[in-house]
Amino acid sequence: MTTRKTAQIAALALLGAAALAAPGTARAQGDLVLYCTVQEEWCRAMVTAFEKKTGVKVAMTRKSSGELYAQIKAEAANPKGDIWWGGTGDPHLQAAEENLTLDYTSPMNKELHPWAIKQWEQSKKRTIGVYSGALGYGYNTKQAADKKLPEMKCWSDLLDPKLKDEVQVADPNSSGTSYTLLATMVQLMGEDKGFDYLKKLHKNINQYTKSGAAPAKATSLGETTVGIVFQHDMVTFVVQGAPIKVVAPCEGTGYEIGSMSIVKGAKNLDNAKKWYDWALTAEAQELGATAKAFQVPSNKSAKAPKEAPDFSKIKFIDYDFAKYGSSAERKRLLSKWDAEVKNLPK
Ligand code: G6P
Repeated sequence: MTTRKTAQIAALALLGAAALAAPGTARAQGDLVLYCTVQEEWCRAMVTAFEKKTGVKVAMTRKSSGELYAQIKAEAANPKGDIWWGGTGDPHLQAAEENLTLDYTSPMNKELHPWAIKQWEQSKKRTIGVYSGALGYGYNTKQAADKKLPEMKCWSDLLDPKLKDEVQVADPNSSGTSYTLLATMVQLMGEDKGFDYLKKLHKNINQYTKSGAAPAKATSLGETTVGIVFQHDMVTFVVQGAPIKVVAPCEGTGYEIGSMSIVKGAKNLDNAKKWYDWALTAEAQELGATAKAFQVPSNKSAKAPKEAPDFSKIKFIDYDFAKYGSSAERKRLLSKWDAEVKNLPK
């Protein structure tokens, strides 16, 4: 081999190494840093479709709503995330009020249901509805039969002493699902009775999980008899054959407006807006069902999955998002729950 040729090969090898290193670094950082708060499978389906459509590389972190709110707050001086997609609306509203997220008007707004736009208006354009879901619970019918439990239909049924250590729900500090339960009880029963209910329920709780949907999986596996979650999270396991009955509680129930916000100080703002506009399209919103996520989409032309719980058959409370998504109220209720419920002896 000539010296010239050897030098050429060495140069090519160096170039190759540089070429490998450069995109590698860019990929590790991501051209878009996504904070995702729905189920992992849906987060992944969204990332894959977005990358394919736009060529933008996405670095994704999946956490629960309360945790991501806390992370964005902790990073406020040096924001690391660009877009926060999914998760219950209350922590998004709190982030908006605390000036942690950016106002944005998407050309897609005109395609959305009024409830999604109301969220945007209430937050001074800083968060917007991407889906909606009804709170409820599900129970494992095999376990219930083994334990000779009566059919469950209401919130009050969950206080049955036969259910001691048989009910699972998340911790409302980390989980938006569980904060929705806390705020729902306060609105449904009044604050004193609502807290009394949660204290009695505590006797039957086997575990406060970090993630809101975790009790649905535990119910499907028979690790708990009852799981309190958004109803669609139980449906995910019903369609896979789990022996679960999904309950829309007879007294009435709360709901979520799953939301999306742009992080204030986002380093990749243009890509964050690209994601935002795309995530509001019918095409993107219909991806949920392919990942067995059966929320109701906020785009009027997106088909609601046929598996989605039928909202017309659910008795809803008039959930006050402005109040229960406000910084002062969310903080107050969470501290009260920590002080009065979480560590109660059983
Ligand atoms: C699940 C539900 C979503 C909900 C989210 C909140 O993923 O399917 O509808 O927004 O939980 O998660 P978290 O862990 O904060 O309760």
